[in-house]
Amino acid sequence: MADVLRYVFVHLPGEQEAVPAGVLTLTEEGRETLASRFVYGRNYLTRHGRIPVDPKSLALDSNARRAEITPANGLALFGALRDATPDLWGRRVIENKLRAPPDSLPESVYLDHAGDNRAGALDVRVARDSPSAPGVLPGSFDLEHLVQAADRIAEGEPVPTHLEMIFLGAPGLGGARPKAALRDDGRQWVAKFPARQDGFNVPMIERASLELARQAGIQVPRTRHIRLGDGRDVMLIERFDRGEEAAGYPRTHMVSALTMLGLHEHDRSAGYADLCRVIEQFGVSGHVQADRTELYRRMVFNILVTNDDDHLRNHAFLYDATGGGWRLSPLYDVVPRPMLGTDRYLAIGVGAQGRLATLDNALSQCEQFGLSKPEAAAIIDSVVTAARPWRNAFESLGVPAQECDRVAPAFRRAADIGMGKVEAAARS
Ligand SMILES: Nc1ncnc2c1ncn2[C@@H]1O[C@H](COP(=O)(O)OP(=O)(O)OP(=O)(O)O)[C@@H](O)[C@H]1O
Ligand SMILES: [Mg+2]
Repeated sequence: MADVLRYVFVHLPGEQEAVPAGVLTLTEEGRETLASRFVYGRNYLTRHGRIPVDPKSLALDSNARRAEITPANGLALFGALRDATPDLWGRRVIENKLRAPPDSLPESVYLDHAGDNRAGALDVRVARDSPSAPGVLPGSFDLEHLVQAADRIAEGEPVPTHLEMIFLGAPGLGGARPKAALRDDGRQWVAKFPARQDGFNVPMIERASLELARQAGIQVPRTRHIRLGDGRDVMLIERFDRGEEAAGYPRTHMVSALTMLGLHEHDRSAGYADLCRVIEQFGVSGHVQADRTELYRRMVFNILVTNDDDHLRNHAFLYDATGGGWRLSPLYDVVPRPMLGTDRYLAIGVGAQGRLATLDNALSQCEQFGLSKPEAAAIIDSVVTAARPWRNAFESLGVPAQECDRVAPAFRRAADIGMGKVEAAARS
């Protein structure tokens, strides 16, 4: 068992350089993290414009002065630091770079190697005076090479020298699918790649689904589709935790809904209504209802397209420095899952019938979203109307008919999943 010390830096809004916020101690045994603790630096606690490293476990209240703070709910690691560490894919990238077997490294190694392109505004350094990791990013012209490198990583083969630019942009990103961060047109983007085991063209379908969500009134970052020389497709989604190149790509602090709730990765108890509590507690005054309504739209959309991978890391919150609180991030990671069964479930709770993916279940607890039954019914109706012509929308974005056929079983007919009860509620 050993204690590992790391300095946590924060890129504060409007400042050129990241500033030290405090010291993280990880107690590790082999590759397992047993416990962690954090102490804020005294200067940071009096600094103008300071922001909490982790809104749930490291709030900047009277507790912040304690000599040692441990994560909420007995978690081994602070959620915000887990969010700033790579997930499954980023771990494979780091292991490839270090020539280490899968999942063989302690958390501190993954934390160290996530680099400058990690999600949100945190940076982790070995010493207080360590320089920041170089913030170079590949460009969209490197895409072919990035995808070739990702193929090698997925197959567990070493990445050859001429493809090593993947080590600049990929280690810091979360999620399981192959991807890399890159720059194009004065902005930063997450490029999501095809994977060998895909049963349909995931990049094209994900992009078309995000665009369909936009039609349903949901906040969606800009997306792009790029076809590679070998005919494979890549999706680009603009990063919402980085600003424009002209401003030096300023960062916005971001944490997952999992972190906001202080829950363990495998906790199955939470639901959309809990995310409403988060919005009420941490949100920005004047925007609470807008965020709850937005969340409601997303839940309804996920039901209609069977996006049942809507787990708590697929929802995020961004720090709003002007409002001094946390806003729901734009939408990301929406992929319809074709299946045959009629009883379908989302990953988190929907309403009185738990995770059951029906429109009447979505209506059942709409008051928790600050919506009356008629208001909720009107939102459901507008999302249903926007999602109904999905095939036309997909085809107009270049999705081949055969790919539409493959995902068609994911799309649900509103009448089959409780629309009748919603319409009755709208009339009452
Ligand atoms: N547009 C974006 N801007 C900033 N960060 C993003 C954006 N899209 C995704 N992310 C971050 O990258 C992570 C991984 O992205 P995403 O969820 O799309 O990948 P995935 O591999 O499909 O995930 P999963 O493992 O849930 O299937 C997200 O959890 C989020 O933290
Ligand atoms: Mg994801």
